[in-house]
Amino acid sequence: MTKYGSFPGARPRRLRTTPAVRRMVAEHRLDPADLILPAFVREGITEPVPINAMPGVVQHTRDTLRKAAVDAVEAGVAGIMLFGVPLDEKKDAAGTAGTDPDGILQQAIRDVRSETGDDLVVMSDLCLDEYTDHGHCGVLDAGGRVDNDATLERYAEMAQVQADAGVHVVGPSGMMDGQVGVVRDALDQTGHEDVSILAYTAKYSSAFYGPFREAVGSSLKGDRKTYQQDPANLRESLRELALDLEEGADMVMVKPALPYLDVLAKIAAEAPVPVAAYQISGEYAMIEAAAEKGWIDRDKAILETLTGIKRAGADMILTYWATEVARGL
Ligand code: PBG
Repeated sequence: MTKYGSFPGARPRRLRTTPAVRRMVAEHRLDPADLILPAFVREGITEPVPINAMPGVVQHTRDTLRKAAVDAVEAGVAGIMLFGVPLDEKKDAAGTAGTDPDGILQQAIRDVRSETGDDLVVMSDLCLDEYTDHGHCGVLDAGGRVDNDATLERYAEMAQVQADAGVHVVGPSGMMDGQVGVVRDALDQTGHEDVSILAYTAKYSSAFYGPFREAVGSSLKGDRKTYQQDPANLRESLRELALDLEEGADMVMVKPALPYLDVLAKIAAEAPVPVAAYQISGEYAMIEAAAEKGWIDRDKAILETLTGIKRAGADMILTYWATEVARGL
């Protein structure tokens, strides 16, 4: 007995005594095979261009992208998610460069496939914002509103050109209603039954996309609140999940990751398909910036966030640190 009561009968600290014990009893473990590297490739550059708000991440040339893909494979990373950045003068209201068979994203898909074959799962962002001069994820109607159904027709074309270029997985990320169904039909009707769909199921209208807008040179003014989800809503993401599954999603995703771990946990509990989470540009920037100031331990913070995302239920994580983290595991 202590002066104030009995000594504890249960001592959880016993299982924390040494690194070996802690490792043995860890409930979740990161694996390189869980990680997917998002990568940007920009048309018309001969040297990679650093992205200010994402120290350590660049807009790749076609050559340096090939190299990054090979590095990812060597580190054991599972996949790569490609984003194309066209020449400024190629941006227009309809995002034509996004459906050009020789557009930058399609070239990048071919480049990476020819370099890595089937060793790396090659995925592509299926969205118009990288290609439109107004920066929205779809085409606009006469009133300047994003026109859902006209946009679906553009997405169907994008699906076909990306699949023709050899992509394994398309990632429709525009949050248009019916996008997964239309993309599935377009793929099936053009002989691409084996191309999978990673549905951006619960994609929130987030301030944390800020650095991404620089990464793809987006000229968006305003916001995406009429198509992306409101951060206040959880239940709505279950409705999006049901629709995406009905429309043929092979995998589903929650995005951003860290501020939405409850959404991730809920979707992971409900979804009968693999679940991904996207640790986005602003999540990356926060840690890099705080670490640069010497305010947090960068490497520990990275692993802690990724472990938290895994613990919340992600089978796969898209992270700009994928190759670095995979190397260290
Ligand atoms: C849409 C898209 C975005 C991101 C991935 N796909 C931007 C947006 O919806 O505004 C953001 C990724 C990131 O911030 O890291 N093409």
